[in-house]
Amino acid sequence: MSNRTLHSIDSLQNVFQKYINEHKFTHEPQALYDPVNYILSLGGKRLRPVLLLMSYNLFDDEVERALPAAFAVEIFHNFSLLHDDIMDEAPLRRGKPAVHIKYGTNTGILSGDVMLIYAYEYLLKTDDKTIVPLLFELFNKVAIEVCEGQQYDMNFETQAVVEISAYLKMIELKTAVLLAGGMQMGAHIAGAEEADAKHISEFARNIGIAFQLQDDILDTYGDPEKFGKKVGGDIVQNKKTYLVLKTLELADDTTKEALNNLMSTPTTDETAKINAVKKIFNEVNVRSHAEKIKEDYLKIAFDHLDAINVPNERKQLLRQLSEQLMGRES
Ligand code: IPE
Ligand code: IPE
Ligand code: MG
Ligand code: MG
Ligand code: MG
Repeated sequence: MSNRTLHSIDSLQNVFQKYINEHKFTHEPQALYDPVNYILSLGGKRLRPVLLLMSYNLFDDEVERALPAAFAVEIFHNFSLLHDDIMDEAPLRRGKPAVHIKYGTNTGILSGDVMLIYAYEYLLKTDDKTIVPLLFELFNKVAIEVCEGQQYDMNFETQAVVEISAYLKMIELKTAVLLAGGMQMGAHIAGAEEADAKHISEFARNIGIAFQLQDDILDTYGDPEKFGKKVGGDIVQNKKTYLVLKTLELADDTTKEALNNLMSTPTTDETAKINAVKKIFNEVNVRSHAEKIKEDYLKIAFDHLDAINVPNERKQLLRQLSEQLMGRES
């Protein structure tokens, strides 16, 4: 890969995949590391590392320098998925059995823990040691916020009233801050100015909120063949997604009560519950409201991208990827 190029999304994905392939977890005991290799080998979109590399590439061309940090962020993301699938009792991940289903819950917990530590190991491999403390600071802030977001997400399952503003804060914490922190790291490793690093972080934060809104939409409306996770899982778990909260705002009192009842009792017949909730969602056309607010966040993200002090053509790929993500099906 030559140094003086703007790298395509595909080439960044390939360069990252090559790095993963070269850094398999081969230590003993296998029972600890097999699940790590399993989850990392199931792919996924590799969105966070690719965004981190794209952020680096806005400011500098030698993207390989950001690979250890990109891997750290992807390891952290996959760790969070292992634990999230335990918390959400999710059977499927990336179209395959979730780690806790395949290897057991205790392994899911411990393999997740060791991944978190390895995320730090890789951050530490960043070549410019003078910025490692800053990377750690950013990473710790993100990791704490993700835990906070995950706890709010679980609190809301049983909380009678959840404000939309509280939901938006929750998804910012559980999802958006990791994209933001990752892109901020990419910018710092490339030596970007502080103001630009801040703008790229805000870009990613808003993309991240839109990304989680799309995740919530797909959880109900996704195609099971493409989604890779169990469609309707959020409804079964009584998750207070935007779809639920906005419907409560739009519906008449009778419908509102019906939805509240459905979303506050343990699920017995999953299919019946998913169908009943979906029917209520459709009555108020809530999906179009979710699409609208997603677009609002995309616009804010683009304003921050516009404000970054690099030539416009360097930002084109980020615009393209953001648009693609808004319409994603998996
Ligand atoms: C899933 O993230 C968890 C969320 C924050 C919605 P992704 O949709 O990026 O998952 P993979 O890595 O592509 O499988
Ligand atoms: C995931 O939120 C957030 C984290 C993993 C930190 P979700 O629970 O919606 O993610 P999926 O849908 O299981 O991927
Ligand atoms: Mg989940
Ligand atoms: Mg969850
Ligand atoms: Mg989800």
